[in-house]
Order: sequence, then C-alpha cells, then structure tokens
Amino acid sequence: MSAPPRGPLPSPRQRPLPPLRLLLLAAMLPLCPGLNVCTRGSASSCEECLLLHPHCAWCSKEDYGGPQSELPRCDLRENLARGGCGGELEGPHTSVHVLQDDPLSTRASGHALDQLTQINPQRIAVDLRPGEAARVRVQVRPVEDYPLDLYYLMDLSLSMKDDLDAIRHLGTRLAQEMRALTRNFRLGFGSFVDKSTSPFSYTAPRYRDNPCVGYKLFPSCVPAFGFRHLLALTDEVGRFNEEVQKQRVSRNRDAPEGGFDAILQAAVCTDKVGWRKEALHLLVFTTDDVPHIALDGKLGGLVQPHDGLCHLDQANEYSATNQMDYPSLALLGEKLAENNIHLIFAVTKNHYMLYKNFTALIPGTTVEILHGDSRNIIQLIVNAYNGIRSKVELEAWDVPEDLDLTYTAICQDGVAQPGQRKCRDLKIGDTVAFEVSLEARGCPGPGSPDRRLALKPVGFRDTLELLVTYNCSCACSAHAEPDSARCSRGGTYSCGACACGPGRLGARCQCREGEGEEGGEAPQAPCREAEGRPLCSGRGECVCQRCLCYHSDFGRIYGPFCQCDDFSCARSRGLLCSGHGDCHCGECQCHAGFVGDNCNCTTETETCVSGDGQLCSGRGHCVCGQCQCTEPGAFGDTCERCPTCPDACGTKRGCVECLLQLPPSGSDRAPANETCQKQCRDAVVTRVDTVRLDVPDTVTCFFKTAQDCVVTFAYSEVPGGKSTLTVLKEPDCGSAPSTLTILLAVGGSVLLVGLVLLAIWKMLVTIHDRREFARFQSERARARYEMVSGAWGAPRGGAGKESTCGGPGCLLPGASSRKGRAPVLPGGGTRGPEAAVSLPCSPARPPTRFTANPCPLTELNGPSAS
Ligand SMILES: *[C@@H]1O[C@H](CO)[C@@H](O)[C@H](O)[C@H]1NC(C)=O
Ligand SMILES: *[C@@H]1O[C@H](CO)[C@@H](O)[C@H](O)[C@H]1NC(C)=O
Ligand SMILES: *[C@@H]1O[C@H](CO)[C@@H](O)[C@H](O)[C@H]1NC(C)=O
Ligand SMILES: *[C@@H]1O[C@H](CO)[C@@H](O)[C@H](O)[C@H]1NC(C)=O
Repeated sequence: MSAPPRGPLPSPRQRPLPPLRLLLLAAMLPLCPGLNVCTRGSASSCEECLLLHPHCAWCSKEDYGGPQSELPRCDLRENLARGGCGGELEGPHTSVHVLQDDPLSTRASGHALDQLTQINPQRIAVDLRPGEAARVRVQVRPVEDYPLDLYYLMDLSLSMKDDLDAIRHLGTRLAQEMRALTRNFRLGFGSFVDKSTSPFSYTAPRYRDNPCVGYKLFPSCVPAFGFRHLLALTDEVGRFNEEVQKQRVSRNRDAPEGGFDAILQAAVCTDKVGWRKEALHLLVFTTDDVPHIALDGKLGGLVQPHDGLCHLDQANEYSATNQMDYPSLALLGEKLAENNIHLIFAVTKNHYMLYKNFTALIPGTTVEILHGDSRNIIQLIVNAYNGIRSKVELEAWDVPEDLDLTYTAICQDGVAQPGQRKCRDLKIGDTVAFEVSLEARGCPGPGSPDRRLALKPVGFRDTLELLVTYNCSCACSAHAEPDSARCSRGGTYSCGACACGPGRLGARCQCREGEGEEGGEAPQAPCREAEGRPLCSGRGECVCQRCLCYHSDFGRIYGPFCQCDDFSCARSRGLLCSGHGDCHCGECQCHAGFVGDNCNCTTETETCVSGDGQLCSGRGHCVCGQCQCTEPGAFGDTCERCPTCPDACGTKRGCVECLLQLPPSGSDRAPANETCQKQCRDAVVTRVDTVRLDVPDTVTCFFKTAQDCVVTFAYSEVPGGKSTLTVLKEPDCGSAPSTLTILLAVGGSVLLVGLVLLAIWKMLVTIHDRREFARFQSERARARYEMVSGAWGAPRGGAGKESTCGGPGCLLPGASSRKGRAPVLPGGGTRGPEAAVSLPCSPARPPTRFTANPCPLTELNGPSAS
C-alpha cells in the first residue's frame, strides 16, 4: 500500500484531468479526515468496510482508540496504523497465484500431441477484493506443425455438378499443399442438399428415385438428402478421392440449400467425424447458393427448433432432417466455438456479401470466393488456413456477471494496445501476450460456489483456466463471540466491535434504550454544552449520557457535545481554509506563511517586488502578496505602470539603458537575449530612427547617458498589460563645437560689427560733405550773380522773354514771364532738391551763351526726370 498518508486516494485510472475537474477532485477528496471515503461510509462491521473501497481497512484490535473511542475502525490503512492498530488490520488485497505454468511449445513434431502448449500459463487462481483489479498476463504462441483436421462439406445440389468434377482429385492435391504447412494433416468429407420434404425438395412419387426426371439438361440424379457424413477424418487422402468419385449430384426444389443443418451435424458429431481434440479444426463449406436459416422450416411444417445435438444414424445420415427446423446462427456459432471449429464459407461471388454478413454473426468464421467450378478451392483453403493461423483472438468463457474483464493486447511488435484482444499478421512461432484485468463489482452471496472461467484463443484447443474466489470476508469474523461478555452480554463481539442486540446501545452495548429518560433528574445534562443549549448541539444523539455525533457527508462532527466539525471553516475558492490551513472546530489554523480568517493571505512579499527591486515600485503597499497601488494613476501587478506618475520616465529608463548597451541586432524587437528581460518585462520595445513626439497618451522621455548622449524614447501603456517603448536606434550624441570654430566665430562677429560701424560712419560723413558742398556751390553762385548783375547793371526782370538759368533750375519761359519777375534763388540752408537737380546746368558758363537757352528741355521738366 503506497498511498500517501491522509492524502487523497490515488485515482484508479491515472489520466490527466482538466483543471476544473482537478479542482473539484481536490475539493472532494480527503484533505481532512472527515472527507475520506472509508470513514464517511459509516461502516459498522468489517465486511461492510471492505466493500466501501479497496483502500479501506478495518481495525479489529479490541481497545483501538481507547475506551472513549472517537477513532473510526474503518479507515485508510495509514490512519489505522497511526491510530495504533498495529498488526490487527483486516484489509485483504486482490491476489493472483499461478497454479500451472508449462512453457510454450515451439514445434509440434517430436511431442505427444496432448503435451503441446500454445498458451501460458494454464491455470491461475485469483482472489478478488471488490473494486481492486487483478491483472493476468497470458502468452499465446501458435505452434509450428500443429495438427490440422479439415472436413470438406460440399453442396451436392444440381448446380454443383461441375464442381464435383473439379474436385475429383482434390484430396491428393490438397494433401500435398497442406503438408507444406503442417505435417500432421487429416481430411474428411461430407455432403448435403436440403430437407427432403416439401417445399424444399420434390416429393411427388415420380421424383422419388430421380428428382431430375424430365429435366432435359441433366435427366438423372439421386434423391435429395439433408446431410451425409461420407468420410471420417483420415490421413489416407486416397480414400477422399474415392469417396468424391462415388458422389452424384441431387436436385432440390427451392434455391436455398440446407447447408446449416449439415454444418451443425459436422460440428457436433465429433466422434463420427473424428475431430481430434488437439488439432486445428477447419470446416470448409462449399456452396453456390444461399442457405436456409432458422424458421424457414415452418414452411415445411417443421416447428421444433434445433436441439443442437448429433443426429447421425447408422448410415451416417442426418436422421432429424425432417423433424427439426434449421439451426439458428447463434446456435451454430455456439456449437462451432464449443468444438473449436473454424468455418470457411467457400461461396460463389454472387453470394459473397451475404456470407460476409454471416461471418459477423458467427464468430471464428471466414468467407472466401469460390469460382463457379471450384477450381480455386485449394488456394482458397490455403489462404484461409494462413489467415486463421496468423491471427490470435482471445475469448473469455463463462464470465460471471459481476466480473468485469478488460483486455490489452501486446502483439508481436511489443506495443500495448488497450481494449484490444486480437493480434493479426502473426508468423508461426511468434509469441503474443494479452493482459487481462479482472475486477469484481461486488461480493457473491454467502455459500455461492467459486467461479471458474476460461480464456481461450479462438479456434485453439488450449485454454487458461481461472479460478476466481472473492476476498469479501474478514478473518477475524471467524472468531465472533455471540452474547459476549465484552459486549456486556448484550451483543455479538466480532472484529473488535460489538454488534448490539435489540434494545442495547453503546460501543460495548452497555446501555439500554430509554435508560436515560427513566433516570429522573436530568440525566441528559452531560449532553448539553450549556444550560438551554440543544442536546449534543443538535448534531448528535444522547446515548448513555454521551453524545453520539451524527455522520455528515461533509465531514466529521466531533467533540463531547458534537460542537466541533472540520468542514464549517472559512473557505476561499471552494477550498477549506484556502488549502493553507487545517480546520479545527470551526476555525482555520493556518500553515506557516499564511494568515487571515481563511488563510488566504500570504505573508510572502516576493510577488510584490517590482522589476526595480522595490516593493510595489514604491507606489503602493503589499497586502496578502498583492500590490495595492496608492499613487494615482499607477496600476499593474507591482504598480509598475504609471504613465502619469512624475517618475514615469525613470521607471523605464533601466530597460532602455539596458537595451542600448546591446548592439542593435537585426531584429528591432526586444532582444532575444535574456539580459534585459527583467527590466524590460511587460515592455514591447521598438527601436526606430525617429521618435514621434505627437502621439496621444504617450509620454516622451529624455535622459542623458554617462557619455553625454541624449536618449529619447516614447512610453505609453497599451491595453493588454504591456507598455510600449519606442526607442531611438542610436542615442543623440551631437559632436561638441571646437575651440577654433568658437574663436573664428567670435573674431568674425567682432569684425563684422566693426565694419558695420565703419560703414555707418562713412555714410554720415558723406552726407555731411555733400551738404557742405551744396551750400558752398550756392554761395558761389550767388556770389557770381551778384558780381554779374553788378557789372552789367541790368535788372534781371528786364531781360525780356529769355529764361534765365541757375539758381533753382531752369524754368519754362512761360512760367517765368507770367510771374513777371525773375526767380530769386533762396538763401542757403532751406533749399530743396531742386538745388541738386539744377547742378548740372549751373556751372559757370560764359555769359555769352547764357541767352541761347543753355539747358536742354528734358532737364527742365522737373526733378523726377533726373
Ligand atoms: C484474502 O486474501 C488474503 C491475501 O490478501 C488471503 O490470505 C486470504 O486467504 C484471502 N481470504 C479469502 C477468504 O479468500
Ligand atoms: C450485408 O450487410 C449490409 C450492411 O449491414 C447490407 O447493406 C447488405 O445489404 C447486406 N448484404 C446482404 C447480401 O445481405
Ligand atoms: C481572502 O478572502 C477574503 C474573504 O473571502 C476576501 O475578501 C479577500 O479578497 C481574499 N484575499 C485574497 C488575497 O484572495
Ligand atoms: C546575453 O548577452 C550577454 C552579454 O551581452 C551574455 O553574457 C549572455 O550569455 C547572453 N545570453 C544569451 C541567452 O544569449
């Protein structure tokens, strides 16, 4: 017994269970003693206990558990042993004893035929405890040169006439072929037509001797007969030829033939046919038409079902042919199997399907296609023989109803095939094995005889005999003491417990029923926890001033007042005390590392540690192994996600830094290398050439590396619990400006400022100079005018129609004449632009040319023209 102490019972079939079922199972199986299948069943005797489950045992020790026994006597073995039961355990196991174990034979020749063994072992005794399977291993090896009996059963209706010709020398040739397969070969012969009554055959007097009378194609044949056994199995094949040659065909009336009658007789008349017990039996059935089956006989008034017995008379003819109906398929199958006969239907092609369908209904039968004239009969028999010899199918006989058998075939390839009991394609000499498991569903009634069953390969004579006994009783029951002193003379003492007689109660039958009530002054007080509380807390009976607690399907109820149980503790997810504590009288006692009413709170903080080694990323508290984030916006198992936290960028920096240390490998996804796995877990990292800064819900982060490079990355949280990091492939390390450049730049700008100032100064100087020069010119002009007018004495206005030049420019003669006076040059300082314009024609000219209009007209059109 290797079940874990107080652990769940190992499930008999170990196969993976879906998680839900597993959970359910875990909840149902005895984590706590109250839920174990043995104690829950409230067995009151050893025999009852054994029936509960194969893992339950009974303690027959008299003082087990002390006088105030609370310990159940029916329990798992471990629990009983722990309770101090010692050697007085009753818990028999299923056992298997091999009684006969002769080795398998290899060749048939050289052995007496009855010593050939094709199955091993041959006899086994099995002691079954209900619910506990016994495994038996059977080996089968078809033996070379195994003796073969072949009985040839031939349809002799008229249509088989050509076939009869074809097999006239069959015996010789068949013997030759078969001796290549086995040296020990016997051949027999029988024939059939149909029942010789109406409507199956011609019964009119004119047909009595020759039913073919008047049939032009074949005018002469013999009367119909049911079945004729012509040649008992013999190794003188010449006699087979002789017999065949003596045969003549017959004629029946309807198409179906009476072949099934013949098969049955050939199968059951073992003595007359001469089947050898230790040989392989082949019955070759050749026909070219369909058979009559059970109930067809009614047509001829034959209502008596076939009795399955041999009815061959002195002349080896079937005598009951006109008394009994045709046999049923079931009867045929049974009789064939009983006599280990392989039936080979050799039928014409048009009836192949029908006979094929019969093979499914009659075990151990094969069907082969016979040519119209039986040409291929030898090949057909050889094929069928090889087919039969290359196949082993195990069959169980006389299986008791309360026994379950399951098979596993281990064929020549050594692979176990559960549920199979057949091996194919064997070569002679191959060994195959079968594992048969027997399980009793219950115990047989007392006095029922032992069971015997047989395992047998189909068509083999060899069997494995199984003697099955049931281990349903306890040895200690043999020493039961009726009316025992140990049971206060009020009951039977058996296996450590008292079975009290009527009216007696208590573990030792020490109380009488109703005794409590008679006592007068409140004898039931000891059954109340406190005044006014219900008796035994309402969960038990007060017997002999002690509480006998009820059994509950949920678990054990205990305590002096039945006030305790081990199933009403707090549960979490269906598990009592979350599976992390023991239930004691309604309270969870948590295992180390767990706290809380239902022990669902772990004191471990490991699950709260975030990637950066802090508890809950420093943004929350660790409660029962889970982070409760306090920082607004933080979430995630360890509060590690928080795009809105001030240090959002900081939390992702580690990952990015780690990534940048790796070479930007071919993949731009997170690196396959695990180095950064810890920091980058939950992060989907994409490395890009440019980081887009305008994506909504994305924080853009910068930091400076030790190399003074600026790393830019974008961080966002996507649904599905992943953060997305978009990181530049290369940090931005822009090169520092050189000193020379700075010097040049500074120098250049100083120079530029100087030049600009210089230019401004120059311009101002130039303007100033011009003004001075203009003033000088006008001074000079005035000076000359005065000199001229002074010298020539004529006023300017008197000059008539000539225009004058100088001063403010040249005026049109009209204009000046209208004014009626000569223009006067204004004094210096207030001169307009006309002054500059007039300059070109103002230089001193000889006065002689002055009168002849010295200025070209274009120059006189105004200042805009210059
Ligand atoms: C029950 O099995 C045990 C072995 O487990 C065996 O010793 C005992 O004789 C068996 N009892 C019966 C009644 O078969
Ligand atoms: C044989 O059985 C199959 C299916 O069971 C059926 O379809 C078919 O008709 C049967 N053939 C004959 C000849 O009875
Ligand atoms: C523990 O159980 C209590 C009560 O059922 C529940 O409120 C709480 O959420 C559970 N805690 C955990 C960590 O499962
Ligand atoms: C990852 O890279 C580091 C060095 O960069 C190296 O030591 C480690 O073995 C690598 N791991 C894997 C799984 O390639």
